[in-house]
Amino acid sequence: MKVLVIGSGAREHALARALTHDPTVSAVIAAPGNPGTDAIALNEPVDAADPEAVLELARRHDVGLVVIGPEAPLVAGVADALREGGIRCFGPSAAAARLEGSKAWAKEVMAAAEVPTGMARVCTDEQQLADALDSFGPPFVVKDDGLAAGKGVVVTEEREEAVAHGLVCLAKGEDARVVIEEFLDGPEASLFCICDGTTVVPLDLAQDFKRVFDGDEGPNTGGMGAYSPLTWAPEGLVDDVVDRVAQPVVDEMARRGTPFVGVLYVGLALTSRGPRVIEFNVRFGDPETQSVLARLESPLAVLLGAAADGGLADHDPLRWRPEAAVTIVEAAAGYPASPRKGDPIDGLEELTAGPLAEHVHVLHAGTALEEGQLVSSGGRVLSVVGLGEDLTQARERAYEGVEAIELDGGHHRSDIALRASRGEIRA
Ligand code: AMP
Ligand code: GLY
Repeated sequence: MKVLVIGSGAREHALARALTHDPTVSAVIAAPGNPGTDAIALNEPVDAADPEAVLELARRHDVGLVVIGPEAPLVAGVADALREGGIRCFGPSAAAARLEGSKAWAKEVMAAAEVPTGMARVCTDEQQLADALDSFGPPFVVKDDGLAAGKGVVVTEEREEAVAHGLVCLAKGEDARVVIEEFLDGPEASLFCICDGTTVVPLDLAQDFKRVFDGDEGPNTGGMGAYSPLTWAPEGLVDDVVDRVAQPVVDEMARRGTPFVGVLYVGLALTSRGPRVIEFNVRFGDPETQSVLARLESPLAVLLGAAADGGLADHDPLRWRPEAAVTIVEAAAGYPASPRKGDPIDGLEELTAGPLAEHVHVLHAGTALEEGQLVSSGGRVLSVVGLGEDLTQARERAYEGVEAIELDGGHHRSDIALRASRGEIRA
């Protein structure tokens, strides 16, 4: 079977890589893909958010499955167009993708499904915004209701900054809304739940690092690194989150006539009062996927195909490699505010040909080829994934890999998985 992967980031490179390891997959097509997927798949240009264009591409290659990486095509209805066109597709309908597309609506679904989450108020004007901020008090959590490419959330002690971000969100249009939320304290965890509309199969837990600098300083980013497994997570957490969050949401979505087929990404804060949902996404997380899929042994196309077919109840239990995986994101100069493009990237060939290659692989995101030279073309340039016996060894190897890469002005965090590897995180 041929599989089409939609998207162009390191998450999609990780998906393509895992799919090529599945013996049921004869070829992977990545659209539009990147220079990394080009080495293992057939890259095809496409406007990923154009449902008809994606359908045409899927038909042209006679693919047996389409896997949609990013949220924008999902919200734009690409999965709907594919299913209506008779193409097997892993990814939710536009109606179900609203779980990510509107934070206010996600809160409504959570309330209906009795899912534990922070208290929140939806505001449509400046007065409501001010009242909500004053009633919750600092630290303030201010969220754009709609998709904002990782820039929608501001968490701050400063009321002025909270108001300023709230006003930016409200200025986006007549129907613009901003969500003010209770601050949730505690370590964060991400759980990817594979859903077929009825049944939920959880992958293993991961943790993401959102802030740009060490020690969780600086602005939020798309994610600067991730690791899996969460050695510190309380026993039974995955089952608990499936029982109290994912299954009730999947049931509620089915009840509403908008069944959820795809990844329900549950972003959690493990508070002293138990796990609380911070956010839902309707797709694999980036960079958590790079760590989680590096550990998954079960064939990925079989799993995602079963979800697309409504057949997860009959799927074999998942198998995992015993190793830990740590992913470090190498970002471009100026990321996240204004990433610089066009800087040469060197050292990759030596890395992939050297002894480290057995335990380290590099996934492309913001890269491009210019006259044979690999250059940066986006904020998050590469994901370097290290596998090891434990988090300590996995992170040592991942950092050895990152250090081998030359990118002028490039930067990465030096503390990905550090506290976990030292046993310093308490849930
Ligand atoms: P999101 O874009 O919803 O993933 O939010 C980005 C980041 O903001 C999260 O990973 C958290 O670190 C932080 N955040 C979001 N909501 C809350 C909250 N209610 N309390 C504390 N931190 C939050
Ligand atoms: N890693 C966070 C996200 O994918 O939204």
